[in-house]
Amino acid sequence: MGQYLIYFLLYFQLSTLSFLSAQPLCHEDERLALLQFKESFIIDKINTSADRCVFPKVDQWKFQGVDCCSWEGVECDHNTGYVISLNLSKSCLHGSINSSSSLFRLVHLEKLNLAFNNFSYSEIPSALGNLSRLTYLNLSYSSFSGQIPFAISKLSKLSTLDLSLNSGVNPSEGLLELKRPDMKSLVQNLTRLTYLDLSLVDVSSPIPSVLANLTSLTSLSCHNCKLFGKFRKMFSIYQTFSSLSSQLKVLSIWMTNFSGEVPASIGNLHSLEFLALSHCKFTGLLPPSLGNLTKITHLGVENNSFRGDVPSFLSNFTNLEFLSLGNNQFHASEIPSSLENLIHLERLDLAQSSFTGCFPTWLTNFTQLRFIDLGFNELQGELPSSIARLKNLQYLDMNSNNLSGVVELNTFLQLQNLEFLSLSNNKLSVLSKTSANASLPKLVKLRLASCNLTIFPDFLRNQEGLQILDLSFNHIHGQIPKWLWEMSRKSLLLINLSHNSLTSFEEPPLVLPWSSLMRIDIGNNMLQGSLPIPPLSTAVYLVSNNSLGGEISPLFCNVTSLQVLDLSDNNLSGMIPQCLANFSNSLAILNLYANNFCGPIPSTWESGNKFPVHQLGS
Ligand SMILES: *[C@@H]1O[C@H](CO)[C@@H](O)[C@H](O)[C@H]1NC(C)=O
Ligand SMILES: *[C@@H]1O[C@H](CO)[C@@H](O)[C@H](O)[C@H]1NC(C)=O
Ligand SMILES: *[C@@H]1O[C@H](CO)[C@@H](O)[C@H](O)[C@H]1NC(C)=O
Ligand SMILES: *[C@@H]1O[C@H](CO)[C@@H](O)[C@H](O)[C@H]1NC(C)=O
Ligand SMILES: *[C@@H]1O[C@H](CO)[C@@H](O)[C@H](O)[C@H]1NC(C)=O
Ligand SMILES: *[C@@H]1O[C@H](CO)[C@@H](O)[C@H](O)[C@H]1NC(C)=O
Ligand SMILES: *[C@@H]1O[C@H](CO)[C@@H](O)[C@H](O)[C@H]1NC(C)=O
Ligand SMILES: *[C@@H]1O[C@H](CO)[C@@H](O)[C@H](O)[C@H]1NC(C)=O
Ligand SMILES: *[C@@H]1O[C@H](CO)[C@@H](O)[C@H](O)[C@H]1NC(C)=O
Ligand SMILES: *[C@@H]1O[C@H](CO)[C@@H](O)[C@H](O)[C@H]1NC(C)=O
Ligand SMILES: *[C@@H]1O[C@H](CO)[C@@H](O)[C@H](O)[C@H]1NC(C)=O
Ligand SMILES: *[C@@H]1O[C@H](CO)[C@@H](O)[C@H](O)[C@H]1NC(C)=O
Repeated sequence: MGQYLIYFLLYFQLSTLSFLSAQPLCHEDERLALLQFKESFIIDKINTSADRCVFPKVDQWKFQGVDCCSWEGVECDHNTGYVISLNLSKSCLHGSINSSSSLFRLVHLEKLNLAFNNFSYSEIPSALGNLSRLTYLNLSYSSFSGQIPFAISKLSKLSTLDLSLNSGVNPSEGLLELKRPDMKSLVQNLTRLTYLDLSLVDVSSPIPSVLANLTSLTSLSCHNCKLFGKFRKMFSIYQTFSSLSSQLKVLSIWMTNFSGEVPASIGNLHSLEFLALSHCKFTGLLPPSLGNLTKITHLGVENNSFRGDVPSFLSNFTNLEFLSLGNNQFHASEIPSSLENLIHLERLDLAQSSFTGCFPTWLTNFTQLRFIDLGFNELQGELPSSIARLKNLQYLDMNSNNLSGVVELNTFLQLQNLEFLSLSNNKLSVLSKTSANASLPKLVKLRLASCNLTIFPDFLRNQEGLQILDLSFNHIHGQIPKWLWEMSRKSLLLINLSHNSLTSFEEPPLVLPWSSLMRIDIGNNMLQGSLPIPPLSTAVYLVSNNSLGGEISPLFCNVTSLQVLDLSDNNLSGMIPQCLANFSNSLAILNLYANNFCGPIPSTWESGNKFPVHQLGS
């Protein structure tokens, strides 16, 4: 009863308010169209991923009275009362949509944002072409699929068109395509576009010259969209249209098939703030004219074949927040001091670049840094303890350098935001004594291979969310402590304890407790006892070169996800469970060499030869 009173008051208040502001109430037919639109979906707060379900706005509609102009996400024209804007991004909408949807009765719409929902792989309805007043259309990240309809090209008032990031289960595999019509016919009449994002749409074409007619464009994103061709050609178009050159702020075409050199004319894009050319096939130098573009905050060119010195003009890029140069063929000596000015850096990737010299101490003054990847270089000397100043650091990769000396794990555990730490494969001695009561970062990936560890780092006891733990090639001896089974039970995917001096399990588990585990390697130790059973999720199970004894439990038969099973060089005995033969479709590698098995070899192995590799010997 009280509830109804509140609804009534709310309704009364809202209608009074709209009366006072003299805005007409919404039109009945549009209100019904909105309600029908809402009813055509499941508002699925359980099965929808969290990023698509932040503002379940339509849930609120029923509490917000009959005036749909006051509903969340809805905006009406002040004079006519027609719905002109509908923003239902991240509203947990789940279900399919087609051209019969009542949405298309809202013919006065100027802005439509349905991003971050789940339209269950529907095609983009061609009835959108009838919403001829649209200036803003955002259908990104919403599980649309198929060919983008020609109808979109009729929306000649569009200023923003975002069809990006519509993928299937694999987030890097786009489901939309732009072939018939192609990119050219889609955009040729959309001459008012300022913002165009076709990332992850399969465009499969060179960049169309018609883009040069989009003279208001300030942002062009098409990463991972199968554009190809010589980049120079694209710029010859741009040079002709200097109006475009002076306005473009965002050019994001990473992970396309562009090749060749970046032409000097890129220096004409005076307004450029965001340039992402990474993961393409670029060669040659970064042109010196790029040095003119000092407004750049984001420069990503990693994973190409750029040559030459790391350009000295970078010292003028004092606004830079994101710098990614890794995995090119830059002539590398020490990390250049031209980077010393870039005090606003949040992300620095100089991986796989043969840099020598020491870890630059000036870097530890860049307190906004969240991400450092210096892996696979030839850096020497010690890691400065001042690294503990980088309080915002989430990611630190120093894998495979020549760093030496002693580092205390405590230094890193002071970094409350740290999620990824790799110090593997240096000449470091990592001291793992940690102060017990300090509050610790919540690590996701920890790689400490070849770090001269002698004990399991104690702080791991309290880690709940680890996914990857690599402690291989150390000198950890004695028992695997029982607390290890409690660590990150739900999250752990990969664990590598191989090449240590482990002798036994303090408390041998029957089944390893990590419920998501995909890969475990405890090989090359001195482990005794019986063979632990991997959890059902396990694909790779490596225990070779130990002294494990007893039989292979028939419970192995349940682990049907196994692809690689290496039990070689142990003291296992008894019969080989017949069921392992049933795995022959998934199991790619089976190694039972150097054990004491007896009895028959499972019959299907003798006839069929489905295993690429299997060793059963002695
Ligand atoms: C979630 O998915 C399950 C299984 O597909 C289904 O039975 C259930 O109704 C869905 N929940 C909601 C709120 O839609
Ligand atoms: C749409 O709504 C979301 C969530 O309320 C808001 O963050 C976003 O700025 C809105 N976008 C537009 C274009 O109005
Ligand atoms: C469109 O969707 C509605 C509701 O989901 C359905 O009843 C109708 O058959 C569909 N129309 C077409 C042409 O697919
Ligand atoms: C979207 O919905 C489809 C089925 O309607 C489902 O298979 C898919 O997993 C959902 N995607 C996400 C990201 O929730
Ligand atoms: C678009 O509008 C025209 C004329 O109003 C109508 O004939 C047509 O069916 C509409 N198309 C769609 C797909 O709704
Ligand atoms: C583009 O506009 C021209 C002139 O307004 C028109 O003739 C042509 O049909 C339009 N093309 C598309 C694809 O809508
Ligand atoms: C660009 O616009 C000009 C003038 O409006 C027109 O002549 C030309 O054909 C257009 N270019 C392309 C590639 O459509
Ligand atoms: C851009 O850089 C080039 C080469 O560094 C230089 O010659 C040119 O004058 C610069 N242009 C402007 C507008 O600053
Ligand atoms: C940095 O910018 C100044 C002023 O534009 C210019 O004179 C200088 O040559 C630039 N430095 C480098 C290394 O490009
Ligand atoms: C780091 O910053 C401090 C002042 O905050 C300064 O005294 C010191 O010289 C800087 N260190 C390096 C290596 O740049
Ligand atoms: C490894 O650690 C031990 C002490 O635990 C030390 O004696 C030895 O020198 C270290 N080895 C290397 C290569 O640093
Ligand atoms: C193994 O599978 C059998 C039959 O599929 C089932 O009865 C048994 O509970 C499973 N055992 C474990 C430990 O999962």
